Amino acid sequence: MFPLIKELLAAPPDGRDLLVRGWVRTKREMKNLIFVEVNDGSCFQGIQCTFDRGSSGFTKETEAALEKLNTGAAVEIKGKLVPSPASGQAVEAAAESITVIGEAPAEAVPGEGSLPDTPPYPLQKKRHSLEFLREIAHLRARTNTFGAVARVRNRLAFAIHEFFQARGFQYVHTPIITASDAEGAGAMFQVTTLDLEALAKSGKAPDYAKDFFGKRSGLTVSGQLEAETYAAALSRVYTFGPTFRAENSNTTRHLAEFWMVEPEVAFAHIEDNMALAEDFLKALFTTVLKDCSEDLAFFDSHIEKGIIETLSSVVASKFTHMTYTDAVKELEKAIAAKADLFEFKPYWGCDLQSEHEKFLTEKIANGPVIVTDYPREIKAFYMKQNSDSKTVRAMDVLVPRLGEIIGGSEREENLGRLAARMAELGMKAEDYSWYLDLRRYGSIPHSGFGLGFERLIQYVTGMANIRDVIPYPRAVGQAEF
Ligand code: 4AD
Ligand code: MG
Repeated sequence: MFPLIKELLAAPPDGRDLLVRGWVRTKREMKNLIFVEVNDGSCFQGIQCTFDRGSSGFTKETEAALEKLNTGAAVEIKGKLVPSPASGQAVEAAAESITVIGEAPAEAVPGEGSLPDTPPYPLQKKRHSLEFLREIAHLRARTNTFGAVARVRNRLAFAIHEFFQARGFQYVHTPIITASDAEGAGAMFQVTTLDLEALAKSGKAPDYAKDFFGKRSGLTVSGQLEAETYAAALSRVYTFGPTFRAENSNTTRHLAEFWMVEPEVAFAHIEDNMALAEDFLKALFTTVLKDCSEDLAFFDSHIEKGIIETLSSVVASKFTHMTYTDAVKELEKAIAAKADLFEFKPYWGCDLQSEHEKFLTEKIANGPVIVTDYPREIKAFYMKQNSDSKTVRAMDVLVPRLGEIIGGSEREENLGRLAARMAELGMKAEDYSWYLDLRRYGSIPHSGFGLGFERLIQYVTGMANIRDVIPYPRAVGQAEF
């Protein structure tokens, strides 16, 4: 295969022949020189291709091709790799010929017959707002910002596998379609082949026994319960896949379709789980700092000032630990000093709001905080109950700017206590009989957590809106697929 621009930029500028294939970012003309910057997405930088009108090889064809060359056109450029006199780049292409592979007109082209009009290429050289780019999600990967997000996302996805594989975890593919609502939050999307509209018209209730799977089914809200079954056999496992939640939260940190990483560890207690989460995040930050330095430098200068410094210092320091009860005390202390500090007044028993999580991480800890021992009423049925009968062994990892990035717990391994909690919540034991089997046969203490992959990417890139860290965001009310 021909080399990517990333490889060309790393090669010695020894005059070797080169072939550049990519998309034109800019074209600049000086008296005798024409500079074309070509980007192929393999790295942040493009390669500068310099054409010299005075050189003997400069043909009429080259001149004509350059004349009508626009931003966005796909090109193939041949030349030699030479040292660059320009600052900010070590090498450039002394270009000899150019072929336009695919044009990208700067002005509208009228259609003909069945061919519709071609509007001008929308990504002309200027800064575009993230809102505008969201409307052209199919083209936005060609911008600096979204190219950088895509590369960081790719590197982190791979780093997740590297981290777990190096520690003896096995990757388990948990199902997308499932009947179990792991979080009990009622946020499941339904999957059905029944004609619900026709049933509603005829006033009949849907009979899910007659549906495709013979029971009411939906899209997974978490792979945890199924991951637990594999942890009870393979000891250390993780899932990493698409997760769906029909939450009616139109915020900058919620998606209806997102990716979650969920390790599950047999014989692990909450302390092991917290240590794993901290090591995991630090390993991921270390990898992007090392392997995505150009992209991070861009985020640091254009999106979130100081992000590199922040990530480096998080890697070097210990996460703050705090119980939920202490966290609420801190919040209450803060409102005692300033009554209107929060929109939602915190009290023991409330679910922490993102404003509270931000306060704890930004004002109290100035870094990530692991909050533990939440009230049982606000957490899922499977969490291990503490002896105070009020709290559970939950752990949320909170970070500045975003709040919760990880949610996890030690799991209730005692059959009687788990069954009693499920009954309290009105869950039918027969629906979760397979899950209770883990406690019936060879039950073990075990723990795990879920990291929201998009929130991780938001954290390391500084991107403010979660819709801008996934290629095709699906969120409430967003219908343009
Ligand atoms: O805290 P959550 O709901 O935990 C679970 O689902 C557990 N079953 C995980 C486990 O223990 N295996 O979700 C975990 C993380 C959150 O901390 C958040 O980062 C992310 O998933 N998340 C979302 N990300 C984007 N959009 C949403 N709607 C999200 N809901 C949760
Ligand atoms: Mg949570």
